[in-house]
Amino acid sequence: MTAPTAPTATPSYRTARAAGALPLLGHAPALVRNPLPFLRSLAEQGDLVELRLGPQRAMMVCSPELFHQVLTDTRHFDKGGPLFDKLRPFLGDGLGSTPHDVHRRQRRQLQPAFRPDAFTRYLAVMREEILAASAGWRDGAVIEVERHAYPLIARIITRTMFSADGSSAAVADIADAYPDFHQGIGRQMRSPFRLLDLLPTRANRRFRRACRIVGQVVDGAIADRRRGEDTGSERDLLTLMVAEGLTDREMHDQVVTMLTGGIGTSASALGWALHFLSRDEVLADAVAQEARTVLPPDTALPPDTGLPPGTALPPGDGSRAGAEAGPLPPLTLADVTRLDLARRVVAETLRFYPSAWFYSRTVTAPVELAGRHLRPGTPVLLSPYLVHHRPDLYPEPELFDVDRWLPERHALLPRQAYVPFGTGSRKCIGDVYALTEITLAVAVIASRWRLEPPPGPVPRHLVEPRPWTVIHPAPLRLRLHRRA
Ligand code: HEM
Repeated sequence: MTAPTAPTATPSYRTARAAGALPLLGHAPALVRNPLPFLRSLAEQGDLVELRLGPQRAMMVCSPELFHQVLTDTRHFDKGGPLFDKLRPFLGDGLGSTPHDVHRRQRRQLQPAFRPDAFTRYLAVMREEILAASAGWRDGAVIEVERHAYPLIARIITRTMFSADGSSAAVADIADAYPDFHQGIGRQMRSPFRLLDLLPTRANRRFRRACRIVGQVVDGAIADRRRGEDTGSERDLLTLMVAEGLTDREMHDQVVTMLTGGIGTSASALGWALHFLSRDEVLADAVAQEARTVLPPDTALPPDTGLPPGTALPPGDGSRAGAEAGPLPPLTLADVTRLDLARRVVAETLRFYPSAWFYSRTVTAPVELAGRHLRPGTPVLLSPYLVHHRPDLYPEPELFDVDRWLPERHALLPRQAYVPFGTGSRKCIGDVYALTEITLAVAVIASRWRLEPPPGPVPRHLVEPRPWTVIHPAPLRLRLHRRA
């Protein structure tokens, strides 16, 4: 057994037991019923706060330095804990779930799919899909944003990771099944009793159907690739994995991990970014102006779709009218980097509502954290949402303020205070990919459409955040106005 390490705590860390524990249930009801205000309240109580979740005790990390310590000290902390245990069955032995010793090899195998040179192809797909997704929108129509964001992001990831061409059934099937798949995982993560998940309710049946479709599509793509029937891929994820000698099972788990980690996170962030733009017309106009200056004209300006006015197409449907009007000039990562304001909108969105808002680790060897001795098996809880809403780090944290990300203000922020993609060796492998697709989508959509909340019973400024697997903006209905 490993000996306890030398204390790493500094006297300035405050530890506490969280207030408000109920008999037997402890803090579980607060965490399940109203997690965001509960998490915000913990930072006031200490840097490391002990929670009771039923009979179990867990340590909630509230300071950015401790957050960094837990994620970078791989000798004492590894994947595990209550949230991870619930997610694990869906991810198998993919990159996000394997223990550190296996993880290193896997990460090395998959990293080339996220190198900058892969982005030329990714950007072409991203642009084509973003243009196609909004090509069927009608001036004056009200859309439910997630019904468009999910298929868009699902189509992009399926096409880039599998190299499937846009018209393949696999792309449509994943885009169609993913919302039920993602919602089902979220429901099971929140569900206190396994038995409830087995009942033949409509939601459970839809979830099982979605699991079956996702599994079949992924296995079909792997089988095609093994038979050499790929779809003209260069160096996508499947090609890499075949070259690295992965088994079918390993490939399956990696692809499902990418889909699970990459769709709901990016789609909800895109939804929130559009929500924030819809509440600030001046900001939205500035993002539109920037996009028209930076991006090639065919990308940022309204295309002639060739469709009669009022033609609406289903979300994610192959309305390629705008996208296939002719060859578009190539788009580069440098173009996206020049979208300074759109990038700040996305950065602030991921501060405000970091999609991966809550996850966990387990202690693997005795360790001191903030002066507390932690035994192996102790669950450690981490919430980027909590860190991003600390008023000492982010003045007026409930204010959406893109100017926080101006270089002179950003420079004042402690390095560990912004963690939407985590940190250390388990930092999100898709961080640049996600930032690129969301920024591009925000810029292209804002350049063509002004979005505004429809009049109705929901107060204009209020969209209820639903912190499930990711923080959903629900219900988010926006009215479209075509920009001239
Ligand atoms: C806004 C979008 C995204 C956010 C906020 C996000 C956030 C995160 C976070 C916080 C982690 C670390 C979790 C931990 O340490 O336990 C992570 C890991 C991961 N993410 Fe993302 N992610 C996003 C998009 C993506 C995309 C687009 C992909 C794939 C194309 C992806 C694939 C993964 C994978 C495979 C891991 C596990 C990495 C490892 O353990 O080496 N994510 N993500």
